[in-house]
Amino acid sequence: MRLSKKTGMVAAGAAALALTLTACGGEGAGSGGSDGAAGDGDENVQVGVAMPTQTYERWIQDGNNVKAGLEDLGYTVDLQFANDDIPTQTQQIDSMITEGVDVLIIASIDGTALTSQLEAAAAANIPVIAYDRLIRDSENVDFYTTFDNFAVGVAQANALLRGLGYLDENGEATGEEGPYNIELFAGSPDDNNASFFFDGAMSILQPLLDDGTLVVPSGQTDFDTVSTQRWELETAQSRMEDLLTSTYTGGDEELNGVLAPADVLSRGILNALTGAGMGPTLEDGLPVVTGQDAEIANIKLINDGVQSSTIFKDTRLLAEQAVTATESFVDGEEPEANDTETYDNGVKVVPSYLLEVETVFAEDIQPVLIDSEYYTTEEVESGQAAD
Ligand code: BGC
Repeated sequence: MRLSKKTGMVAAGAAALALTLTACGGEGAGSGGSDGAAGDGDENVQVGVAMPTQTYERWIQDGNNVKAGLEDLGYTVDLQFANDDIPTQTQQIDSMITEGVDVLIIASIDGTALTSQLEAAAAANIPVIAYDRLIRDSENVDFYTTFDNFAVGVAQANALLRGLGYLDENGEATGEEGPYNIELFAGSPDDNNASFFFDGAMSILQPLLDDGTLVVPSGQTDFDTVSTQRWELETAQSRMEDLLTSTYTGGDEELNGVLAPADVLSRGILNALTGAGMGPTLEDGLPVVTGQDAEIANIKLINDGVQSSTIFKDTRLLAEQAVTATESFVDGEEPEANDTETYDNGVKVVPSYLLEVETVFAEDIQPVLIDSEYYTTEEVESGQAAD
């Protein structure tokens, strides 16, 4: 049980993490009661939102959506992006704690690098919500809002198999037997999600590797070897270039598909493939490349028949969840979790809210992305998001 940061009063029962904002020094306070119900006092609520980078569009959307949702509740928001630099992010979180934020929402760069920041947050009774990426090795993570990350990997593997022609659009075997030559990529090893994506994908792919339907001609199949530090496009591109040189020159082996765990890496991989003269489209024999995030540049590539598929994670819904969880903490309640088993951060199982994901092939762009107003037709055609 923690002390209310601003009042020093002991919060009760389910309100263990609560901020008794109604007793917030009397200024603009509501009834002064201890239920902390949102009311006039909400303009005093300040939330720190730490996002990893602005170089990847999804995090800009996440940051802006979370900020807008919190501001709609009348909260003040300190939104920071850290340029994928760990010291920058730790400094930003330190400043938020010094500023006296009431709740922290953090999408970490390195999920293991925030232990001392989280200790300081706990000492100041600031609830911490891990956003999309689990923060590891700390007992001071109070809630986790994310997508079903294992399911993302499963969906990527199934999309790869469909792209290769092994499965049909209903996920049924087509009767084609392969063998198919594939290469595997994983995300950043310091991002807890990366192993969830990879394990989810391998839960589908491994049996087919074992029975010879799939072959990885480079022999590179373990997570450490195929991971991509800090999710960098250039790193994926140069690994793909090296693989093409080492394994696919001389015409002995033909590459049929690549498991790419995120659109940023898919772009690097596609640069390497087209740079080596493959394609330029799937119809011209470009290998099947998967993805994740439905980044606008990649949706254009899918629309143009270059990238095969992506996994859509509606960041609007994730932002909404983070806002709802924040409001619960502010109101003195525990946020509603729909998973209390999966996300063990090494110290504790963090109560989580998991959202569902959708696979997007070219024919899904209209119903899934345009009809839901995630993108406009113009954005899909130009490959650029309008502000
Ligand atoms: C996110 C992905 C994203 C990746 C790279 C992961 O933690 O879950 O959506 O593609 O980071 O930014």
